Amino acid sequence: MAKFIINGGKPLKGEINVSGSKNAALKIFPAALLTGDTIEISNVPEIEDVFRAQEMLSFLGHEVKKIKSGSFEIKSGKSKCFDLPANLVNKFRASIMFVGPMLASYGKVKFSHPGGCVIGAGTRPIDLFLSGFKKMGVKVKISGKNYFLNVSKLKGMNFFFSKVSVTATESLMMTACLASGETILKNCAMEPEIVALANYLNDCGAKIEGAGTPIIKIKGVKKIKGGKYKIIPDRIETGTFAMLAAAIGGDEILIKNCNPNHLEAVWALFDKIGVNYSLGKNEVKIKRSKKLLACDITTHEYPGFATDLQSPYTVLMTQAYGSSLIHETIYDRRLLFTDMLTQMGADIIMADPHRVVVNGPTKLYGRKLVSPDLRAGVSLIIAALIAKGKTEIDNIYQIDRGYEKLDKRLRNLGADIKRID
Ligand code: UD1
Repeated sequence: MAKFIINGGKPLKGEINVSGSKNAALKIFPAALLTGDTIEISNVPEIEDVFRAQEMLSFLGHEVKKIKSGSFEIKSGKSKCFDLPANLVNKFRASIMFVGPMLASYGKVKFSHPGGCVIGAGTRPIDLFLSGFKKMGVKVKISGKNYFLNVSKLKGMNFFFSKVSVTATESLMMTACLASGETILKNCAMEPEIVALANYLNDCGAKIEGAGTPIIKIKGVKKIKGGKYKIIPDRIETGTFAMLAAAIGGDEILIKNCNPNHLEAVWALFDKIGVNYSLGKNEVKIKRSKKLLACDITTHEYPGFATDLQSPYTVLMTQAYGSSLIHETIYDRRLLFTDMLTQMGADIIMADPHRVVVNGPTKLYGRKLVSPDLRAGVSLIIAALIAKGKTEIDNIYQIDRGYEKLDKRLRNLGADIKRID
């Protein structure tokens, strides 16, 4: 298995570029199934989850061609197969995003329960997707871990999400574009990636109103055209680099090609804990702070503090003065990685599966670690860069799933990080 070897303790400085958003890109490839025309996508992050989405689209008969670095052209084709291949579905949770567009285009699809990060109790549920599809007239048969869905004509509907879910909101929003009549979705997630997807679909002829608010209305149309789409900057990567810079920045770290407006919860928190930062239109500058102060957080759906930024923030709090309570409300296994921070010397007490208390500041020391999931993996890299001595992080496929050439970008900041394949 590939691993990273990191020698920590060096202050970092310089510039780092933010890639296109993983969570936006992963929805555009399935959305390509909705049109018979050609699509051009730019600013695509070249990461493992995106490669899997491209493989899925190619398997389903579309031609995915790289035009240049980060830009792809998708020419539509006709699928002869309605089974999403298990070897791809098992690798990334966002494979579920292909189900709705398959129903809209072909009226049937078979798939197994999607994989991805193991961060919730048991397997991550898909009940909201299935309930929404059923309301659109889809027949759902479940046999073990396999799902068989079919519908003769999708119909508009009224749906209330009993839990706020990003991908379920996006999935039903996309599917409803080709249903007959109007669909009203209530208690929707409001993430910027949802707004970006709606803007793209509207440019291609969809009629979606209200994306970015809790109520989204979609009027079904007969056809979705092709179009051009530039993936928005990855706000989670931006926030992660901001935490890294706050924890170990030297003179100054400039985070480029990002959208600071998508991270207001982070900047409000930085004001409280004493991070020295300034925001530009597409960039963030962070200078080393004399003293960081501890502060509690509770993860929340957008625009609150993102669960995907909880783990880098927890690492940052090991360097802050005082005690901070980290309350993870979305996923109940996302705090388990803190055990590895404790092995590195952090003073962390687990109150229950959803809450830990971090007492800081503490010195961290290099250790042999295994990346448990995508976001925890990148946070272990931050911890390793802070730590004294050598850290080995194994299972870095989990990090490559979401971060493009991360080691190279960190080396540009002066980090001593090496990939061993
Ligand atoms: C998306 C993001 C992920 C982020 C998460 C929360 C993508 C590809 N991934 O994941 O990076 O961490 O939002 O911001 O965009 N749930 C159900 N039933 C369902 C679906 C979800 O109970 O059918 C629950 C989940 O277990 C979780 C909560 O809803 O507790 C939120 O999950 P959700 O927003 O769906 O996460 P994802 O969309 O999978």
